[in-house]
Amino acid sequence: MRRPILAGNWKMYKNITETCAFFEKFKPLVATSTHCDIVICPTFVNLQAAVEATRDTTIDIGGQNLFWEKEGAYTGEISGPMLKAVGCKWVLVAHSERRQYFGETNEDARKKIVAALDAGLTPIYCIGEKLDERQAERTHEVLETQFHGGTARLTMEQFSRIVIAYEPCWAIGTGKVATPEMAADAHRYIREQVRKSFSPEAASACRILYGGSVKPDNIRGLMAQPEIDGGLVGGASLDPVSFASIVNF
Ligand code: PGA
Repeated sequence: MRRPILAGNWKMYKNITETCAFFEKFKPLVATSTHCDIVICPTFVNLQAAVEATRDTTIDIGGQNLFWEKEGAYTGEISGPMLKAVGCKWVLVAHSERRQYFGETNEDARKKIVAALDAGLTPIYCIGEKLDERQAERTHEVLETQFHGGTARLTMEQFSRIVIAYEPCWAIGTGKVATPEMAADAHRYIREQVRKSFSPEAASACRILYGGSVKPDNIRGLMAQPEIDGGLVGGASLDPVSFASIVNF
């Protein structure tokens, strides 16, 4: 049985006051929610406040990105060990906005995944097709390339510590959610890649999240698909009541 994960990606939203106010409201709403892992990924400057606000709760904090070197002359970058030291347990890797606006490649993703694992963080590796790729029926091909590019040369043990998020780019922030069947098809295809690259056991253990316009009113339908192990939630994770109702689907 794969334990569900509900993760909130706050992107470049909320200052420190807003971060603290969110947790004040959110904590009591999920105080008894033990059925899943709950993760919030705030901006770097709010990580410490978020970690402090969630001490003695089951809410975990994650980064939205990391650089693959541990330290060095890399102005503006943050490393895995730094995220770990501040209290993060998770980190997003290669979110489609990182790919789209900052040119991140599958090889960058691979290096970031290894760096995250070396630092003791759980990477959530994001993959997903663009609208034109889906329309050209290239979804499987894109997923295959991104999956294998990002996970190449990982050992079985390393792979067992990562989580995959399937996020079709056309569904992110658009209000156009993939149907549960569409998402499940993509998840099945990704799981098949895990089986090919790693093993049948790795494939059945691997947690695959769906992301893209997840809302309180569509989470149940998505989670009803046995292939879908949770959600990576952008917009709807910014509001404590809305994200709590997603967590408590
Ligand atoms: P959205 O974003 O829920 O606002 O569509 C999802 C994501 O980018 O992870």
